[in-house]
Amino acid sequence: MKIAVGTDHAGVRLKEDIIAVIQEMGHEVVDVGCSCADSVDYPDYALPVCEQVASGEADRGILICGTGIGMSIAANKVPGIRCALVHDVFSAKATREHNDSNVLAMGERVIGPGLAQEIAKIWLDTPFSSGERHTQRVGKIKAIEDRYLQR
Ligand code: RB5
Repeated sequence: MKIAVGTDHAGVRLKEDIIAVIQEMGHEVVDVGCSCADSVDYPDYALPVCEQVASGEADRGILICGTGIGMSIAANKVPGIRCALVHDVFSAKATREHNDSNVLAMGERVIGPGLAQEIAKIWLDTPFSSGERHTQRVGKIKAIEDRYLQR
């Protein structure tokens, strides 16, 4: 898979650890930045990652900021994006199986690199369950989006 990755200044170190894991798994990485310690605005990095995922240019996206919260809020404004803010392995698996999340957000100031790498691995490896209940619920998320896009 092709995985788009982005961070603000608060997630630069963790981004490198996550890129390493993605590459070890044999996936391709598209790094949209940032790569400096200077303060930047997380929506500026959430947007290019989410646009790539929404357009199908990338298969999935991973976003990192201090808490993961700003990135996940920004990401979920992009139609077609289902971004999950995850800091535990149970949720990493569940959000793929139940929500078919296509973007993962994490906070470098919240979890350590070992746990973050494990979360990324499980999230990348877990397929959507395709169960009827879950498919119907994901469809209802899309219906909400469509309703507001029509206004
Ligand atoms: C940056 O200081 C911090 O606000 C940002 O990385 C993120 O945690 C926002 O949600």
